[in-house]
Amino acid sequence: MCGIVGYFGKRSAQEFLLEGLRRLEYRGYDSAGIALVEKGKLRVTRSVGKVSVLEDRLSGKVGTSMIGIAHTRWATHGKPSEKNAHPHTDCTKRVAVVHNGIIENYRELKETLEQQGHVFRSETDTEIIAHVLEEEMKTNTFEGAFAQTLKRLRGAYAIVAVSESSPNVMLAARLSSPLVLGIGEGEMFLASDVSALVGDVKRVVYLDDGEMVVLDVEGYVVKTLANKRQKKEEVTLEWDRSKAERGGFPHFMLKEIFEQPKSFADALRGRLIPEEGHARLGGLKAIEKRLRTIDRIIIVSCGTSYHSGLVGEYMLEEYAGIPTEVEMASEFRYRKPLLGKKTLVIAISQSGETADTLAAIREAKEKGVLTIGIVNVVGSSISRETDAGVYCHAGPEISVASTKAFTSQLAILALLSLYLGRQRGLSLVLGQRIAKELLLLPQYMERVLEHAPIIKKLAKKYAKQSHYLYLGRKYNYPNALEGALKIKEIAYVPAQGYPTGEMKHGPIALIDSSVMAIMMVPRDSVYEKNMSGMQEILARGSRVIAIGTEGDTELSQQATDTLLLPKTLEMLSPILSAIPLQLFAYYIAVERGYDIDQPRNLAKSVTVE
Ligand code: F6R
Repeated sequence: MCGIVGYFGKRSAQEFLLEGLRRLEYRGYDSAGIALVEKGKLRVTRSVGKVSVLEDRLSGKVGTSMIGIAHTRWATHGKPSEKNAHPHTDCTKRVAVVHNGIIENYRELKETLEQQGHVFRSETDTEIIAHVLEEEMKTNTFEGAFAQTLKRLRGAYAIVAVSESSPNVMLAARLSSPLVLGIGEGEMFLASDVSALVGDVKRVVYLDDGEMVVLDVEGYVVKTLANKRQKKEEVTLEWDRSKAERGGFPHFMLKEIFEQPKSFADALRGRLIPEEGHARLGGLKAIEKRLRTIDRIIIVSCGTSYHSGLVGEYMLEEYAGIPTEVEMASEFRYRKPLLGKKTLVIAISQSGETADTLAAIREAKEKGVLTIGIVNVVGSSISRETDAGVYCHAGPEISVASTKAFTSQLAILALLSLYLGRQRGLSLVLGQRIAKELLLLPQYMERVLEHAPIIKKLAKKYAKQSHYLYLGRKYNYPNALEGALKIKEIAYVPAQGYPTGEMKHGPIALIDSSVMAIMMVPRDSVYEKNMSGMQEILARGSRVIAIGTEGDTELSQQATDTLLLPKTLEMLSPILSAIPLQLFAYYIAVERGYDIDQPRNLAKSVTVE
């Protein structure tokens, strides 16, 4: 979604801000803008389209400013246009703000402001903030007025503001929308996403809801809106720039797909005790005793993270013996979930900022339920608001389409199943087997990646196909959903994911020679069932790409095209079969000529409802 960067320091603010915006491009946006404080005056430049357009607008005007704010906008209120792009200013153009989130009471505020004589130039909710600030500044300092303004806003926000009245001050605040302060040598940064700061800062401060931060020449102070100083921890940022760059790959998505053997190994690192058939999860140590009493698990998540949760459901029930349900966070938050004292709610989220997942966790916490997070972004809201958690350690995932985060989430869910299983009745021998196999997976993943050239050819062959059906069963059913999601989001091809066993109950009516099915048919406990499902589809004229197990000649003889993957435990097979699905979607999108890292209408982290 929208991206914010702010700079306060000793070098050209313009240069850093443009670079920061470029680093946030992956989040999805339709317009961009920048406000620089130059010799006490504000200079605002905005444009529709890419950051490069904004850069062209600014060229020739290399600012001397060392203070500035910038924004990439993903339209919510009002269409993508220059006048709707941020930063927004007040009537006098002496205050500029950038904002992520939604101001829910913007209509009533606008009405009041209009009665007071304010004139609006955009259709956005953000512009309201600049005008409220202008109004409050009539009787207050910039800082005091900022706090008063925030008290009048309802909704979600990360806001950064600058003003000509205090040209050496920058103010920022957050409520349900991420904002991080980066600390460098003699310079300070603000960003809605830590990946904008990687390489420039070593220490960060994660702001919490209801906090504001004041930056001035003395440094920074974090306060509540009631002016109470907050003591904040400065956290070391471990990601380095090379991890957030494309490293020779044409797209982040492809780079991240190929990173999976490493990111998977990183998720396991130091967490397996193979000889004891056990997992060591430091992030759960404090709640170890409480976890022993858990008798029900609810997993809440969205999109790809929801799909990993579905695989987790099979793992946790089979190996930990705990009844598990998975629910889309957007649904969970609005029903009246019945949660017992022994229920554990697990939030899965790459970004750790997804609004629905965060709201679901808050709902669970309100009911006094134990919550844990399986999160990739260290220090993100979900990681901080859950009682405990396990980080994925996948490194920055820049591609909007999630790939390596998915397999890392599956690594953590397998570790968690082992951990909870061994706390209960899971045998040492079975525990050892799972641990041993998990350690082999990175090399199996390398072998799967060797299929990339074949998958590329398949994508060429099927590039014009107008609809796909993804089918799988048991552990591979969630991957059918995930495969369909991937091809929809980056190649814009309608696709449906379905459990193979459900075909007979309706969807088989769709099958004819125009249909292309992608089926997961590993040699597992449902192999025979899958094979007969495939026969039914082939018999009705559809073509099938089958993803099976190495050595399965029977499958190769029957399917139209086959990809055979290393044999592993059934519970781990989706970790391998996810990779060809990701590659297939990627190469289809390449064939169709789409902007893979920035698919239309999508945002990397969905911080609003
Ligand atoms: C799909 C995708 C989205 C996210 C979803 C949840 O490729 O990236 O479906 O999985 O928006 O995001 P997180 O995991 O950040 O909570």
